[in-house]
Amino acid sequence: MATFPAASERASERYSKPAVFFHWIIVVLIALAYFAIEIRGPRGSASRELWSNVHFWCGTLVLSLAVLRVLWRLWRGAPADIDTNRVLAFLSRLVHLALYLFIFVQPLLGMLMINTGGHPVTLAGLGWDITLVGPDPVARKFFHNAHVLIGNAFYWVIGLHALAAIGHHLVLRDNTLRRMI
Ligand code: HEM
Ligand code: HEM
Repeated sequence: MATFPAASERASERYSKPAVFFHWIIVVLIALAYFAIEIRGPRGSASRELWSNVHFWCGTLVLSLAVLRVLWRLWRGAPADIDTNRVLAFLSRLVHLALYLFIFVQPLLGMLMINTGGHPVTLAGLGWDITLVGPDPVARKFFHNAHVLIGNAFYWVIGLHALAAIGHHLVLRDNTLRRMI
């Protein structure tokens, strides 16, 4: 008797404040990481130095916040699916899973790329050198290709996810977007 009402009640719940905070701060940092790498400028220029540092900082912060975000998600869960259509509900879960993987895998690939190139990851202004692995030219090529490929592919995945959110709000007129704000 209680199963259906409980599920529909959960669907009208909002994401918790920390979940909303993690979502949007990570969105801003990812946007800035993309922006920085696109405008970094030619090799050896001061602009490249500055924007590469912004890229490393944003990416590393994404990874750190991703850990806290997933712990919070595992502890507190999320509201129930809004989509009544099973195919759409499946697709949205698949895209969310891909996005969760992305916020771990992409920064890690970036760090591994730098480390296998023979350098520590240094975050400007902070005295830390992050070295996860030693130099390895073959692995560097792999990590580089994977970072570039995934970085470019996720313009599309993120775009699809954002379009779906806006579609829910403007076309289906449900509270999908509102409960993440
Ligand atoms: C979510 C975080 C990140 C995103 C979305 C991201 C995305 C990208 C993209 C789109 C590119 C350019 C690919 C191209 O040339 O078309 C790139 C390049 C690069 N990224 Fe990241 N990245 C992230 C995190 C990191 C981190 C944490 C590091 C290292 C600390 C890093 C290091 C690099 C480096 C060194 C390049 C230049 C590669 C080259 O041109 O040789 N990235 N990244
Ligand atoms: C930059 C990259 C983004 C990443 C990595 C990302 C990641 C995620 C993830 C992992 C979830 C699932 C949350 C959970 O159930 O625990 C989610 C949900 C959501 N995202 Fe994003 N997101 C991004 C950008 C955006 C943008 C630009 C928008 C809006 C235009 C948006 C709107 C939403 C909404 C409304 C939900 C809730 C969906 C639902 O309740 O079914 N996201 N996002």
